[in-house]
Amino acid sequence: MTVGEGTTTGHGLTVCVTGAGGFIGSWIVKLLLEKGYAVRGTVRNPDDAKNAHLRGLAGAAERLTLCKADLLDAGALRHAIAGCHGVFHTASPVTDDPEEMVEPAVRGTRYVMDAAAASGTVGRVVMTSSIGAVAMDPNRAPDAVVDESCWSDLDFCKKTKNWYCYGKTVAERAAWEAAAELGVDLVVVIPVLVQGPALQPAVNASLTHVLKYLNGSTQTYANAVQAYVHVRDTAAAHLRVFEAPSAAGRYLCADGAVLHREDVVTILRKFFPQYPIPNRCSDEVNPRKQPYKISNQRLRDLGVEFAPAAQCLYDTVVSFQDKGILPAAPAPPARCNSEVFCFKEVMKHVEL
Ligand SMILES: NC(=O)c1ccc[n+]([C@@H]2O[C@H](COP(=O)([O-])OP(=O)(O)OC[C@H]3O[C@@H](n4cnc5c(N)ncnc54)[C@H](OP(=O)(O)O)[C@@H]3O)[C@@H](O)[C@H]2O)c1
Repeated sequence: MTVGEGTTTGHGLTVCVTGAGGFIGSWIVKLLLEKGYAVRGTVRNPDDAKNAHLRGLAGAAERLTLCKADLLDAGALRHAIAGCHGVFHTASPVTDDPEEMVEPAVRGTRYVMDAAAASGTVGRVVMTSSIGAVAMDPNRAPDAVVDESCWSDLDFCKKTKNWYCYGKTVAERAAWEAAAELGVDLVVVIPVLVQGPALQPAVNASLTHVLKYLNGSTQTYANAVQAYVHVRDTAAAHLRVFEAPSAAGRYLCADGAVLHREDVVTILRKFFPQYPIPNRCSDEVNPRKQPYKISNQRLRDLGVEFAPAAQCLYDTVVSFQDKGILPAAPAPPARCNSEVFCFKEVMKHVEL
């Protein structure tokens, strides 16, 4: 089956989303339902309240089925994927505990690829990898552009005990090996740090990155740099590479800017001065870390657009306020009548 270029509707197509209840998975399910796809979402516990938001999505009552599947349960994954036209494999542990991380990420990916091959119906698997599988390379030149040819160095990940990056790197490599061996059409989306409004009730790991700067849990910021991407753009990129027949290989999913944490706290303070945002770096000895360059050209060539990092941060905080995770802002600029207007006004004064 070929999913046509420019397809605007998924009517008549059934796809599986692993990790449907997660931050990125929920947004992928939302966009797929909006385009008319029937979706089988795998979750570890369909009756858990943390997945209830999925049933409230537009189109869910008619076209969403939740399937119970752990990544280490090959049979459950095969059952969820059987008869589907495509798979969005986004489930993965997000932890630096080596035992919790590596085996489910790697073995689960292999099971997903096996199930896609066995189905005889899956036209394409879109896997969510991570910048952690790309950027952990101590030998990269400081002025090198991080692009899809880059891979993280496994020995360096091990040496630095960065088991999340290690697990994601090995899992993506395993996916490419399985794709070649089994003849599965695989496309990989590689997000940088994903921010934006959460559909799920819980604060996931990537959102704590911003929350800790607002709720008083940290008094300093790190001497570190980071690239950001909006969760809505991340989900849209997954759909785009699924639907574009010409899509192939790896796709870095990032707003082009790489920010120092000092830039992040400056943006947050401009928008949300009412929170106790740190203004001191934890490292007052070493030189300020310099941002690396990152390319999002491959996704832009497919027509994917990216919200600026400041918008990602802004939307994240507003979502915390809406959920009551942070106290609502007592005064403008964060919650004046037009948030778009406020955003533009504040951006005029944010210099990066
Ligand atoms: N958020 C980011 O900044 C970011 C950046 C780059 C890449 N990624 C990748 O994007 C994907 C989704 O991440 P996320 O940020 O959306 O994280 P998340 O909200 O924590 O979602 C992870 C999902 O994976 C599921 N999962 C974890 N371990 C599992 C297991 N053993 N069996 C079955 N399901 C399991 C979780 O299910 P439960 O709800 O049952 O725990 C959850 O639905 C991951 O592959 C992650 O590596 C994320």
